[in-house]
Amino acid sequence: MTRLHRFGMLTLALLAGTMAMGQSANDAKMKAFIDALMKKMTLQEKIGQLNLPGAGDIVTGQASNSDIAKKIEQGQVGGLFNIKSVAKIREVQRLAVEKSRLKIPLLFGMDVIHGYETVFPIPLGLSCNWDMAAVERSARIAAIEASADGINWTFSPMVDISRDPRWGRISEGNGEDAYLGSEIAKAMVRGYQGTDLSRNNTIMACVKHYALYGAAEAGRDYNTTDMSHQRMYNEYFPPYKAAVDAGVGSVMASFNEVDGVPATANKWLLTDVLRKQWGFKGFLVTDYTGINEMIDHGIGDLKTVSARALAAGIDMDMVGEGLLTTLPQSLKEGKITVQQIDAACRRILEAKYKLGLFEDPYRYCDENRSKTEIFTSEHRREARKIAAESFVLLKNDKNTLPLRKGGTIALIGPLADSKENMPGTWSVAANLQNATSLLAGLKEAVGSQARILYAKGSNVEADKDLQDRGTMFGRTIARDERPAADIIAEAVAIANQSDVVVAALGEASEMSGESSSRTNIEIPQVQKDLLAALLKTGKPVVLVLFTGRPLALSWEQANVPAILNVWFGGSEAGYAIADVLFGDVNPSGKLSTTFPQNVGQVPLFYNHKNTGRPLGEGKWFSKFRSNYLDVSNDPLYPFGFGLSYTQFSYSDVKLSTSNPKGNQSVTASVTVTNTGKAEGKEVVQLYLRDLVGSVTRPVQELKGFQKIALKPGESKTISFTITPETLKFYNYDLKYVWEPGEFEIMIGGNSRDVKKAKLNWSR
Ligand code: BGC
Repeated sequence: MTRLHRFGMLTLALLAGTMAMGQSANDAKMKAFIDALMKKMTLQEKIGQLNLPGAGDIVTGQASNSDIAKKIEQGQVGGLFNIKSVAKIREVQRLAVEKSRLKIPLLFGMDVIHGYETVFPIPLGLSCNWDMAAVERSARIAAIEASADGINWTFSPMVDISRDPRWGRISEGNGEDAYLGSEIAKAMVRGYQGTDLSRNNTIMACVKHYALYGAAEAGRDYNTTDMSHQRMYNEYFPPYKAAVDAGVGSVMASFNEVDGVPATANKWLLTDVLRKQWGFKGFLVTDYTGINEMIDHGIGDLKTVSARALAAGIDMDMVGEGLLTTLPQSLKEGKITVQQIDAACRRILEAKYKLGLFEDPYRYCDENRSKTEIFTSEHRREARKIAAESFVLLKNDKNTLPLRKGGTIALIGPLADSKENMPGTWSVAANLQNATSLLAGLKEAVGSQARILYAKGSNVEADKDLQDRGTMFGRTIARDERPAADIIAEAVAIANQSDVVVAALGEASEMSGESSSRTNIEIPQVQKDLLAALLKTGKPVVLVLFTGRPLALSWEQANVPAILNVWFGGSEAGYAIADVLFGDVNPSGKLSTTFPQNVGQVPLFYNHKNTGRPLGEGKWFSKFRSNYLDVSNDPLYPFGFGLSYTQFSYSDVKLSTSNPKGNQSVTASVTVTNTGKAEGKEVVQLYLRDLVGSVTRPVQELKGFQKIALKPGESKTISFTITPETLKFYNYDLKYVWEPGEFEIMIGGNSRDVKKAKLNWSR
C-alpha cells in the first residue's frame, strides 16, 4: 500500500467514524425528543399514530368538514394517503398541528410508482432499461415532483419477483430476476430518499409487497403463495433485502399468506427475518385493509387479527382501522402489551422526525415549488429519454425499422390515438390529458416530411365488458360500435394508400395492474384479426406493442416483420416511440422477464433448475425427459433479450485464472464490437452456473451487467470481477455460503446467446 493510499484510507476511516458519531448523536437527539413526546401521549393517542385511514373525498377549503377532520383533531390519525395538491395537504396538516392536543404532524403517502405528473415507463418497462443511473434518476424526479406537491412518503418500490405473466401486477415489478431486481430496488430507494431524508425534495420510500406477492398461485391476484424457504431466500427475498440494505424507511406487508399465515400476521416474516436477520429499522405498514382481510383468510375476528398483526411486527394499519378500534380491548385482555404499542408508535414518530416534520410540518408544502417543479420540460425530456431506452425490439426482419421520415405512414390500432392510455397502470398523480398519444408523437416527429394517415381498425376487445374492465380510471378508449369487419375495412383502405403500416396494438393500460389477471395472454382476437388483415395488404407492418406483461406472441413472431414492445412508456411515450421508430434513438432495452411461446408453459423463467431428466440443448421432445408433447421448452424471447438497429459481436470469455483459491478474485472479460452501421447501446450480461452443489442450483443466474455505448466498428473490453461473494447462496440450513467446485461463466447479450468458460474454485 502506498503512503498516499494509506493516508487516504485513514482519512476515510476517520470520516466514517465521525459520520457514525454524528449519526449516533442524531439518533440520541431523536430518541430524547420522542421519549419526551411519548411521555405526554395517552394510550389512545399512541394507537392513533398507527392509523392510516383512507383520505376519502377531501375538498380544498373544506378539509375541516370532512369525516376525517374530527379524527385528526382527536389525535386518531398518523397519516393519510393519495391526497393530491399542496393546498389540500397543507390544510389537512394544519388540522393536525393546530387542532390536535399534541400537534403531531401527519405523514402524507401516495402511490408514486413510476413518476408523479411526469410519468416514466411502468416498472416492468423501466426494468428493461438496465441503466441503474437512469432508474435512480426516474425516482429522483418522482421525489422532486411529489414532494413539491405535499407528499413525503411513497409506496414504492414494488420489487415482487414474478414469473407469471397471468398476474396483472407483474407490470408493477421488475421482472423475474433477483439480481436485477435487487439492483433496481437499491437505485429506486437512493432516488427517492437521497442522502438526507429531511431535505424538502426527498421522500420516504416503502418497499413492497413483503413478501412473495408475485408468486400468487395460478397468477390470480391476492391468491395463496407457498414455497420452500430455500426458494424464498435465494429467489424471492433478495430485492426486499436490497431495499433494506439501501436504508429504505418503510416496508409494506403483502396481502398473501406465507407458510400458511397471512404476511400481515406472520411474525417470522415481519420480525425474525426483516428486523432480526436483516436489521430493518424503519416502520411496517399493512397493505390496504390487510388486517381486516385476515378475517376472510380465516384466522380470527377483527380483534384477534389486529392483535396478531401488532404482535407480528406491524406498525401502521392502512384503511381498515382494526388497530385503532380493537387494541385497547386486546390490551385489557392481555393479548398484546403496552411495549408493543409503544414500539410501533415510536417507529412512526421516528419516520416523521427523520422527514423533518417536527421541525417544519409544512416542509413539503411549498406552493411555489408545486408551480415550478412539476411536469417541467427538463423532467419530461428525461422521461422521454428513459422511455425510449426501455422499449424492447423483439423482431426486425430485413431492417424494417427504423422508418424513413417520408412518404405515407398508416398508423392503425385502438391504442394509436389514446393519450389516456399512455401513462399505464398505477399512475395516480398523472394528469392524463398531459400525456402524448402515439399519433401526436408521430405527427410531431415527421412534421411536413411525411403524411400520417390514421384509422382505429378495431376495438381493444370485441366484448364491451371486457374492454371496460381494461380501460377504467379515466383510461377510457372510445368504442366503435360498427361491425368489426367494417372497422377493419376502413383501416385496410388506409393501409393500401401507405408505404408502411404502424399497428398500435396490445393491451389497454388497465388490462394489467392490480386485480387484472388474465388466463389468455395473447393480443385480443379482434386486434389479431385486424393485424392479419393489415399483413394481407403486403405492406411492411411494424407492430408497436403496448403491454403490461409478457404476452404470448408466437403467431406475431412468425408473421409480422417488426415488433417493438413499448410497454406503457409514460407521459412522454408518444414522442419516445417516435424517436425509436425513426431511429433517432437506437433501441437498447432488454427483457427482464421471459416471454413464453404460450400460456401453458407458464411459469417459464431462465434461472430454473435442471431436474434429473433435462431435455438437453436444442431438442424439442424426447420420451421420458422433462418436456411437453406439443411445444418445446424454449421461450419465445429469452430473459435479457432485445435487438438493436446495429449488431454486436462477442469475443470468447477470458479469465484471469481458471483455478482460483479461497478469497481470490477472478476477472472475466469479453470484447464486444459494434459490427453494424449504427451507434448503439448493448447490455453485456454475466451469468454463472454452480455445477455441483450441496443443494441443486439453477442452470443460470445473472451476476452482473453493464450497459455500454459503441460507435460503428468500435470495440470495448468489458470486465466483471467474480469473488466468493458472487458464488454465495442460501444452503439447506439457510446459511449464506459458497462451495468450492466447478462453475460455468457465461457472458452475452441475453441469457440464451452466451460465450462460456469454466472455473474450478478451491477452498
Ligand atoms: C395496493 C398497494 C398500494 C395500496 C395503496 C393496495 O391496493 O396493493 O400496492 O400501495 O393499495 O393505494
